[in-house]
Amino acid sequence: MDKARSETKPVISGPMHAARAHDSAHKHVAGSADYIDDMPEPAGLLHGALGMADRAHAQIVAIDLDAVRAAPGVVAVLTSRDVPGINDIASGSHHDEPLIADRLVQFHGQVIFAVIAETRDQARRAARLARIDYKDLPFWTDIDGALQNGAPLVTPGMTLKRGEAEDELDKADHRIAGTMRIGGQEHFYLEGQIALAIPGEDDDVAVWSSTQHPSEIQHIVSHVLAVPSNAVTVHVRRMGGGFGGKETQGNQFAALAAIAAKTLKRAVKFRPDRDEDMAVTGKRHDFRCDYDVAFDGNGVIHAVNANFAARCGYSADLSGPVTDRALFHADSSYFFPHVLLTSQPLKTHTCSNTAYRGFGGPQGMVGGERIIEEIAYHRGVDPLEIRKRNFYGPTGSGRDVTPYHQRVEDNIIARVVEELETSCDYQARRRAILDFNRTSPVIKKGIALTPVKFGISFTMTAFNQAGALVHIYQDGSIHLNHGGTEMGQGLYIKVAQVIADCFQVDVETVKITATTTGKVPNTSATAASSGSDLNGMAAYDAARQIKERLIAWAAERFDVAPDEIEFRPNRVKIGTKHDMPFAEFVHHAYFGRVQLSAAGFYKTPKIHWDRAAGRGTPFYYFAYGAACSEVSIDTLTGEYLMERTDILHDVGRSLNPAIDIGQIEGGFVQGMGWLTTEELWWDDKGRLRTHAPSTYKIPLASDRPKIFNTRLVPWSENAEPTIGRSKAVGEPPFMLAISVLEALSMAVASVADYKTCPRLDAPATPERVLMAVERLKAER
Ligand code: MTE
Ligand code: MOS
Repeated sequence: MDKARSETKPVISGPMHAARAHDSAHKHVAGSADYIDDMPEPAGLLHGALGMADRAHAQIVAIDLDAVRAAPGVVAVLTSRDVPGINDIASGSHHDEPLIADRLVQFHGQVIFAVIAETRDQARRAARLARIDYKDLPFWTDIDGALQNGAPLVTPGMTLKRGEAEDELDKADHRIAGTMRIGGQEHFYLEGQIALAIPGEDDDVAVWSSTQHPSEIQHIVSHVLAVPSNAVTVHVRRMGGGFGGKETQGNQFAALAAIAAKTLKRAVKFRPDRDEDMAVTGKRHDFRCDYDVAFDGNGVIHAVNANFAARCGYSADLSGPVTDRALFHADSSYFFPHVLLTSQPLKTHTCSNTAYRGFGGPQGMVGGERIIEEIAYHRGVDPLEIRKRNFYGPTGSGRDVTPYHQRVEDNIIARVVEELETSCDYQARRRAILDFNRTSPVIKKGIALTPVKFGISFTMTAFNQAGALVHIYQDGSIHLNHGGTEMGQGLYIKVAQVIADCFQVDVETVKITATTTGKVPNTSATAASSGSDLNGMAAYDAARQIKERLIAWAAERFDVAPDEIEFRPNRVKIGTKHDMPFAEFVHHAYFGRVQLSAAGFYKTPKIHWDRAAGRGTPFYYFAYGAACSEVSIDTLTGEYLMERTDILHDVGRSLNPAIDIGQIEGGFVQGMGWLTTEELWWDDKGRLRTHAPSTYKIPLASDRPKIFNTRLVPWSENAEPTIGRSKAVGEPPFMLAISVLEALSMAVASVADYKTCPRLDAPATPERVLMAVERLKAER
């Protein structure tokens, strides 16, 4: 980093840190942003549809596709025998996900053939004409079923251990054990999965995919086709939302489109409809958390032993790192002196669950916060007070070590919580709510203030790298490319701001270009919230190289010292004699034969992780935040309203406060949906019955808190030298929604005088709230 950037004072003039609209905001709103299905269709384009199994677990005895082949418009039917290369689309090294099931069906909805036809409608109609004979096999679809059947793990579980939790639990004064169930979640990206493949000469194929991970699409397509990676080019301008659901789940569609395109030598598009998308693709893992906690009379935690069992679906996919991240966040913001945490990534006969905003972290954190609630209701103390007593202490206090032996060195949680507590008037409002509940017979209110501490970095160390490519053309316009993808989160504008800042030009001077494997290779998924940390730095590295060349050339050409060359807003000042527009400066540099293009690279320093030992520094830093939510419930129906939410969230020194506030509000509302109304339900045949908005309820605009205040922590900056001293923002705010679940829980607890922990599971649907109310009334 150059000196200006690593200083702590904000740069007033620069485009970095400015609140700017998303580069495509106007196009999103006007409907003119191009998604893959909006691209002009190539001549002769064919359309694909999936043939899906209607059994949860079965052998395919016979498969008769004659009627499919004979249907109008059908050009080809693909089965597992038509895969030229390896019939596998598993992420990583698991090799447990056939692109097209061969003889074994492992979930209801699994792809067993694909139809390619002249129109999408013809392909979809034909796909229904298959006749398949199955021999049913025993199956289970949920965690309890998996445990009863001794289900295998899809990937080994993890253990985090410090101290002697089991011994200490036995000796404890106060001890509570319980179970919490935490539901899954459908991504509900507005643009569904889609891929378009156009065959080229020789081995070549170009693929447009709605993916967070173009390099993985490239690898998968190359091995299903048995061609080298250099034959495959993947493009993605933007996604209409990904939320983790397009880290690996695009593989299927891209691979099928590419095979069909190469086999038939025509362009092929796959665009499943919403119901198929929901049936086939993986979701957030639901969990069962069994916890056992020991604490003293003040509610200070002494030992925690917890197991996190997850429904992973039929294959590993990302379940290993997801369940790991659940354990990494089971401590939430609290110091556990003695701790034993274990994970069980269980195989079930359902779609293969995958990444989803927070990547298991939210489920771990909800479990940790349940433990706090248990203690608070047991001691008859406000949960916020119990939280404060258990926060990680300052560095070196002896209360600063996580269950994975990383020290928390940048801890600001106590200050963030305290500032929010004051600014939202928590104490007075809680008192008023307690008064209200005493006299209100049916409507009860609840309030909760919960913290967030989220570790930033991929726990797989190798993924923490990024590349970028920057060109400046002779007219001074800048072409920017990097390995990150745009899914609405504002990565492109943030990285453009970094480049604009480096040259001190208007951000409009920087053209943000579609992510493509041909420009920047070997990229990581845009995930783990690290898009701007990684790609911002890589792009900065490229711009810095060009800038250094420009300075070296100008110093010689104009005979001045390098530090006499100043990049000012849209101009360059050279010594005392020359001051010219940036474009003119660049034009001269071209004639001076300066290379005006550079590739940049970045890898995150410091981090390492030894999974087998459960030790290391998996996270470069932590992002913090706190939210206070107030709700009211109707104790006769279980229905509820979000009255008010106040958020104070830490993004370090924001790269773009407008985008960051949007991420925080959006993340919170998405988290609220997860913990309240979104419920996935599989029937006794293993079929997902909540496969459309008719049966799966995401939050509406009208569900948002009636009063909704979001602020960035004004004084925070990253202690580490990240780009502009900013912090990642994509996922952490999702967990601010835990305040909603706990506020609902307090409202429920009021019916039994706050003496019993309501043990409200997630999602806290109105039904579940009502059942909890009835249970507490009966117990009282
Ligand atoms: N915001 C929007 N609008 N759409 C998305 O799909 N995905 C989230 C988050 N915010 C998402 C989003 C997820 S899961 C992640 S990991 C980050 O954005 C990824 O982008 P970043 O690393 O650039 O923050
Ligand atoms: Mo986000 S779940 O890391 O794509």
